[in-house]
Amino acid sequence: MDQNQGERKPRVVLIPCPFQGHINPMLQLGAALHSKGYSITIVHTQYNSPNPSRHPEFDFQSIQDGLAEDVIDSGNLLEIITGLNIKCKHPFQECLEQIVLRRGQVTCVIYDDLMYFAEAAANNLELPSIILRTINAATFASRLAIMHLVEEGRFPFQDSALGEPVPDLPLLRFKDLPVSKYNAQDKFLKLIAEACHTRTSSAVVWNTIDCLEQPLLAQLQKQCPVPIFPIGPMHKYAPPSSSSSLLKEDTNCISWLNKQPEKSVLYVSFGSVVSIQETEIAEMARGLANSEQKFLWVIRPGSILGSEWIELLPKGFLETVGQRGCIVKWAPQKQVLAHAAVGGFLTHCGWNSTLESIAEGVPMICRPNFGDQLVNARYISHVWGIGLQLESKLDGEEVARAVRRIMVDEKGEEIRVRAKSFKKKIELGMGRGGSSYNALNKLLEFMSF
Ligand code: UDX
Repeated sequence: MDQNQGERKPRVVLIPCPFQGHINPMLQLGAALHSKGYSITIVHTQYNSPNPSRHPEFDFQSIQDGLAEDVIDSGNLLEIITGLNIKCKHPFQECLEQIVLRRGQVTCVIYDDLMYFAEAAANNLELPSIILRTINAATFASRLAIMHLVEEGRFPFQDSALGEPVPDLPLLRFKDLPVSKYNAQDKFLKLIAEACHTRTSSAVVWNTIDCLEQPLLAQLQKQCPVPIFPIGPMHKYAPPSSSSSLLKEDTNCISWLNKQPEKSVLYVSFGSVVSIQETEIAEMARGLANSEQKFLWVIRPGSILGSEWIELLPKGFLETVGQRGCIVKWAPQKQVLAHAAVGGFLTHCGWNSTLESIAEGVPMICRPNFGDQLVNARYISHVWGIGLQLESKLDGEEVARAVRRIMVDEKGEEIRVRAKSFKKKIELGMGRGGSSYNALNKLLEFMSF
């Protein structure tokens, strides 16, 4: 029971999808709502469970996810998410009943659009539900475009079409569409159809901001039966030092950054799920060495295929770069990108990384791997003009040229200036009277139901 029932705060139940790129924005949304007077319960799976001790302000409730060991070990995101939607339905319903029983009335349930099982339980208990989209509007529109192409019998695409613009979304080419990296098209199409469906939910909260996507958001709002609230970038609602990392952050890299001159370091990271071939790592290492720039490189254990950590880096690489490079297993990324010493980001273009970089005015070199990363990379390089994309087979010389261009060359100046201007736009959007500020206030009004 809450300590003081007389002053019980309204409660919101949040259900994140159990991957780093989804847990972060959901917990950041929790921080935003908590700061506005809500009590927050996070209902999470056993798989990739967040660490409650890092968020004493939230109540955490675990549910059985029933995932088989072999499905977890496969690392197949499609299988895992599909499995969760089948197995978590009843445990979540029971958990929600208990929350209402023990903690009192729940204002609403907010679920990640990939955790669509949550809606039925909310309905059964006659609770309103809201969807959180952790992708951007462009990726959402791309999923709609894929479904449209399926209807027209044009999916999977012909190789000859890959370089052509997508009819519904001419800013993207067919090869930028967020298709699955798994060879299970039916499952993938079912998942994106479920994720795009609003069902009976009352609203959509979006981790994006008008200054990046206003025309598309306005268009999507016209097609959407319920209000859309673009309140991002959500990492701005949590204190810079707060973290919902599943891996331990190595803060030594901040001490290393403290010793480097302003804007002299390229930050390199490929997020929480991408794996990289040994040949690609070799070209990347060659590029970093030849660029003669300083770098901070996050290499997640197991992310280089066939190795535990950095055993497959080219021989002599570490000796060649010496003090010019720092390699860690996992970094406090928000702090890194906000650090004065960081001048560029070589990224896989996960949406959180992209937003975190844009919010700090850091220009990017894009090396997308799959899914929404392809869309984000195209927008970064060709729509917002705040980065370069490395396409096709990775080549060390090309990497070195891109690094120098983004960090120091005159030719990269326009990109650096534009990246800086977006930082300002984000600050305006998040500040009093800005688009995200207003959208958050409208969401709070809406949630008084
Ligand atoms: C996944 C998909 O890859 C991505 O395309 C989708 O948009 C979200 O889900 P992920 O690979 O985890 O995301 O990338 P991203 O969205 O960038 O999220 C990674 C998060 O981990 C970021 O918030 C980043 O700050 C954090 N991170 C990353 C760290 O805290 N430390 C690190 O060393 C690396």
